[in-house]
Amino acid sequence: MYFIISVIVAYLLGSISFSVIIARKIMQVDIRQHGSGNAGATNTLRVLGVGPAIVVLLLDCLKGIIAVLGALYFTGGDAFIASAAGLAAIAGHNWPVYYGFRGGKGVATTIGVLASLVFLPALLAGAIAILSIIFTRFVSLGSLLFISGTTIIVFIFSLTGSYSSDYLYFLIVITVLSFWRHRTNIERLIKGTESKIGQKATAN
Ligand code: G3P
Repeated sequence: MYFIISVIVAYLLGSISFSVIIARKIMQVDIRQHGSGNAGATNTLRVLGVGPAIVVLLLDCLKGIIAVLGALYFTGGDAFIASAAGLAAIAGHNWPVYYGFRGGKGVATTIGVLASLVFLPALLAGAIAILSIIFTRFVSLGSLLFISGTTIIVFIFSLTGSYSSDYLYFLIVITVLSFWRHRTNIERLIKGTESKIGQKATAN
C-alpha cells in the first residue's frame, strides 16, 4: 500500500512543470514552443534568462527531494519504495499528467532524487558534470555525465557493500531513461551540432 501511494503522490508531484508555469506567468508563452522545446531549466535559460532558470532548476530539483525524503519518512526508511518514488517523480516531470504528457528530460528532478538517495556519489559525479559544462558548454553532456557517473560510482561503492543494490537497479533504469530522453541531444553531440550555453537551440 505504501508503495502504491508513494509512487502515485510522487508522480503527481513530478508532473508539476515549473518551466511551463513560470514561462506562462512571465512571458505568457508555452516554453515547449520555444528554444529546444524542452520543458526544463536549460531551455528556461535560453528563453527567459538566468533568474527564471535558477528558480526552475531549484523547484524541479525540490520535487525529486520531496518525493524521495517523503517516501523515506513515511515508510521508516524503505530504500526500495524511496527509489521507486524518485523514479515516479522523474516520470511525472517527463510525462506530466497536467500538461498533456509533454514535459522535460528530468535532469533537475533527477539531481534532487540522486542527491537524496546517494548523496556522496551524486556529489562526486556532480563535480565532474559541472567541470564538463564549464569546459564544453554542453548542458546535455554534463547532464548525461552526472546521471551515468552517479550510477557508475554507486556500482563501485556497492562492490564494497557501502550501497544497497536496490539503489543500483533504479539508478540503471534512471540512466537508461535519461539517455533515451536525450537521444536527439546525443545525435547532435555526435554530429557536432548540439547547441552550447548561450547559443540558439535546435528544436528537439
Ligand atoms: O535539462 C536538459 C538538458 O540536458 C538539455 O536540454 O533544452 O538543451 O535539450 P535541451
